[in-house]
Amino acid sequence: MTQPELFDGPALLPLAPGACVLRGFAAADAPALWACLQAEVLPQAPWRHLVTPGGYTMSVAMTNCGRVGWVSDSSGYRYDPVDPLSGQSWPGMPPALLQLAAQAAAAAGFPGFVPDACLVNHYVAGSRLSLHQDRDERDHQAPIVSVSLGLPATFLFGGLRRTDRPQRLRLDHGDVVVWGGPSRLAYHGVAPLAAGEHALLGACRVNLTFRKAL
Ligand code: SIN
Ligand code: FE2
Repeated sequence: MTQPELFDGPALLPLAPGACVLRGFAAADAPALWACLQAEVLPQAPWRHLVTPGGYTMSVAMTNCGRVGWVSDSSGYRYDPVDPLSGQSWPGMPPALLQLAAQAAAAAGFPGFVPDACLVNHYVAGSRLSLHQDRDERDHQAPIVSVSLGLPATFLFGGLRRTDRPQRLRLDHGDVVVWGGPSRLAYHGVAPLAAGEHALLGACRVNLTFRKAL
């Protein structure tokens, strides 16, 4: 029997100043995080495909939890305390999610991270996210903490200019990427997801992006 986990790279893989991958950081908590999403977030705020200001429907389905949620429509991108689908507040951020995000940020060198928004992305085969910056947050002092669950993806991590050639790295179930400080506005994206079947999540990838938006 091979034991691939014995041959994985270092647990903390630096990407750029202020940016790193924490390999498998959320692996042990992943079943509880996924259960939390299913029980506490998705019933109240189900997946939906948002439309970009340019009129394109995104291939990634999204929802949010926390005080505010990231939304896109014909008028632009914004953080909104109200889920436009339900007209109600977004579900609160489950404490297990908040704790994991704070621990990952601290492990990456950003102690005291208290996110108020968690964007949850759902990818199926072929879903992709083009290169973009996370810049709708009021506070760029806090880092971004991004947790991968389910099928593996190719993450694109670029520089501060759209034209900087991105690094391509594989993100597996339980991996966490943190970018802040000089990398806070780094361009990033996700290549089209390859089809597959994951033992816990099935034929999808779910990504949680924690931000301090307010
Ligand atoms: C995002 O940039 O919002 C998500 C990135 C990812 O899915 O890994
Ligand atoms: Fe992003």
